[in-house]
Amino acid sequence: MASAKKSTVRTFATKNDLAKKVRTQAIDLLNQQLADSLDLYSQTKQAHWNVKGSDFYQLHLMFDEHAAHVVGWIDLVAERAVMLGGYATGTVRMSAAATTLTDYPTVATTGLEHVTALVDRWSSYAASTRAAIDTADEAGDQDTADLFTEISRQVDMDLWFLEAHLQG
Ligand SMILES: [Fe+2]
Repeated sequence: MASAKKSTVRTFATKNDLAKKVRTQAIDLLNQQLADSLDLYSQTKQAHWNVKGSDFYQLHLMFDEHAAHVVGWIDLVAERAVMLGGYATGTVRMSAAATTLTDYPTVATTGLEHVTALVDRWSSYAASTRAAIDTADEAGDQDTADLFTEISRQVDMDLWFLEAHLQG
């Protein structure tokens, strides 16, 4: 995975009592999720800006609400990587190089096309977030597991809000 060397970009001494091995695994995981979060944010804003059709206004608002959630997660995830003695790899270029999400389709125009594109990406993000709970737990970092659990609950809710448009 692209994140394999993230923790070696830069590290800092810390009196945080988690073992270095635990922190290193958590930092890698956090930076991978940071990349996906930044990508998900920009893709959700892409839908917010470009959606067209009779459902424009409600989708425009909903996409922006979801993007605002991701902004909060970006900060929480990046800051946890740093507080563990790591270096947050959070520039647009860094996230573009490391993201696991697929590119946003520029052909998407209607509400359903944008919702479908976002469901694909949000469900991928939901899966990686849920996997991150277990990875952090197995690494021995309960706080990072808890952070991803908190994020996961809202991701599931936002995915429901998106998918409900396709289920009727
Ligand atoms: Fe806006």
